[in-house]
Amino acid sequence: MRFAYTSLVAALAWSACVVAAPSASVAERQTSATVRIMALGDSITGSPGCWRAYLWKKLQDAGIKNTDFVGTLAAQGCGFTYDGENEGHGGYLATNIASQNLLPSWLSSTKPDVVMMHLGTNDVWSNIPAANITAAFSTLLSQMRTQKSTMKVLVAQIIPMNPSGCSACGQRVVDLNAAIKTWASSKNTTTSPITVVDCWTGFETASMTGDGVHPNEAGNQKLATSWYALLAGVIKSF
Ligand SMILES: *[C@@H]1O[C@H](CO)[C@@H](O)[C@H](O)[C@H]1NC(C)=O
Ligand SMILES: *[C@@H]1O[C@H](CO)[C@@H](O)[C@H](O)[C@H]1NC(C)=O
Repeated sequence: MRFAYTSLVAALAWSACVVAAPSASVAERQTSATVRIMALGDSITGSPGCWRAYLWKKLQDAGIKNTDFVGTLAAQGCGFTYDGENEGHGGYLATNIASQNLLPSWLSSTKPDVVMMHLGTNDVWSNIPAANITAAFSTLLSQMRTQKSTMKVLVAQIIPMNPSGCSACGQRVVDLNAAIKTWASSKNTTTSPITVVDCWTGFETASMTGDGVHPNEAGNQKLATSWYALLAGVIKSF
């Protein structure tokens, strides 16, 4: 009897092992799948765009390490080592990125699963109407979905701006951000969901930029906070 009992325990342990091993490795695969993230934008994102460094650090500190930030541009110095490849092209307008067909090659060379886009500041500054900017966003979105049909997209309601010589820019950003929300809802699908990220609320140009446009240290910390929870949620959805 004792022998039989021991055999039974051994048999159960063996079958538990056999059953447990594959499910453990599935769980491991699911939690460790690397999510490739492209930050797409202008100088606010890329020159140097240290909010991305703080964002990366927040993810790391929260144990969200299965990320690979991708882009054709290298990280710039932000005081510590971080994963900072990006697609933040200083001076670029969304409408030019679309009309010059620049995004497809950036996408095909870096293959993101997620695009986080903060674009439109230079368009606003150039007095391009909001409708033209969201039309450009539609072109960019369609290029993202051509690259990957299940692309997950986070689109920023952009930070406020108050540069010298453009007293109208502040309201134009407000108008663009309203248009972005409507645009995102109209383009949302379950296959390729769009998340609107409010980077505007709580961002003060006086204290968080040096020039009315580009985030300073406080602005970079604020932008990292604005992106963090929604980006973390998207990463966890993989
Ligand atoms: C906005 O788009 C319209 C329609 O395509 C075009 O006619 C107009 O020139 C554009 N405006 C600017 C400032 O680019
Ligand atoms: C897109 O749909 C998802 C749910 O399917 C929702 O959580 C999200 O808020 C929607 N995005 C927009 C911009 O409406």
